[in-house]
Amino acid sequence: PPAISQVEGSCGLRTGNCRAKGGSPGFKVAILGAAGGIGQPLVMLMKMNPLVSVLHLYDVVNTPGVTADISHMDTGAVVRGFLGKEQLEDALIGMDLVIIPAGVPRKPGMTRDDLFNINAGIVKTLCEGISKCCPKAIVNLISNPVNSTVPIAAEVFKKAGIYDPRKLLGVTMLDVVRSNTFVAEVLGLDPREVDVPVVGGHAGATILPLLSQVKPPCSFTVEETEHLTSRIQNGGTEVVEAKAGAGSATLSMAYAAVKFADACLRGLRGDAGVVECAFVSSQVTELPFFATRVRLGCNGIEEIYPLGPLNEYERAGLEKAKKELAGSIEKGISFATK
Ligand code: NAD
Ligand code: LMR
Repeated sequence: PPAISQVEGSCGLRTGNCRAKGGSPGFKVAILGAAGGIGQPLVMLMKMNPLVSVLHLYDVVNTPGVTADISHMDTGAVVRGFLGKEQLEDALIGMDLVIIPAGVPRKPGMTRDDLFNINAGIVKTLCEGISKCCPKAIVNLISNPVNSTVPIAAEVFKKAGIYDPRKLLGVTMLDVVRSNTFVAEVLGLDPREVDVPVVGGHAGATILPLLSQVKPPCSFTVEETEHLTSRIQNGGTEVVEAKAGAGSATLSMAYAAVKFADACLRGLRGDAGVVECAFVSSQVTELPFFATRVRLGCNGIEEIYPLGPLNEYERAGLEKAKKELAGSIEKGISFATK
């Protein structure tokens, strides 16, 4: 069946993988889970992104309404909606970037790992579609538990023979966004001037802000370090509890997802010096996946940066993070290979 809504424009669609700096690349982007709490504001912000020429909205519910609504925005991207599993392949064909916020969110009292049973299967199915229809696309995976869903996606891509570790990125940008905000609050700075690297993974103790490497250079008391680390590690839970059963972070997540997707697209375009944190296939530690700063380019991840000098508090946090991460990664791999 045809796409639900089709709003054709006259954008020049890109065909190559890398565009000259300063050109008008017009990337094709699909959002899977587009009608959800994250999906809707994410779609709106991506429709406003001048690097996007085609925007595909896929979900198992409600895409006709969201697509009609978004398509009235007077920005350049052509919007098409796709509903249900039988339209997944059409949604994915030819995409340069696929962003996945599909799946269930937490309620108070739950861990991200409690979402595994439902979200693992959803991510597996969506990644099988990507393998078939846009095997060269960059994938930004948001669905929780990210520490397990990224290994699942990697195994699905390996099974299909299309795995390129440079193109699979677990989105940990919200941890960076929160860290910048909370650190700026403590330092009395504008959050836009603050840059906090966050490494490890995306759940509790695996979220490791490197406060010794904050830019601009600064120092914290022991109390400030403990307060900030705890608030950053529990930022997701803070929102889940405040929403009291109505879901988890959606608006700040959509903002973070767009910030990250825009970085991936600028990298694809060939911009120099695009560096962000993400949970990726990595040799920085003994674990097969780890979040660190990565440089984004024409092929996705062009370079993975080492952790840099850690203080004693961070070294202890790293050991704790690795222990928890190892189990979550293994859980994802065994789900996808069973
Ligand atoms: P939501 O329930 O509001 O929306 C999820 C959407 O996914 C729904 O529209 C649903 O119909 C859709 N969906 C379900 N199964 C699908 C399938 N098979 N194919 C396509 N779409 C499907 O949830 P939300 O608040 O948008 O959160 C989505 C996910 O993102 C959750 O797993 C949440 O934990 C995670 N999340 C991650 C981060 C992060 O930092 N990585 C931050 C916030 C939320
Ligand atoms: C977050 O960090 O806000 C997300 O991972 C959602 C959650 O469950 O906390």
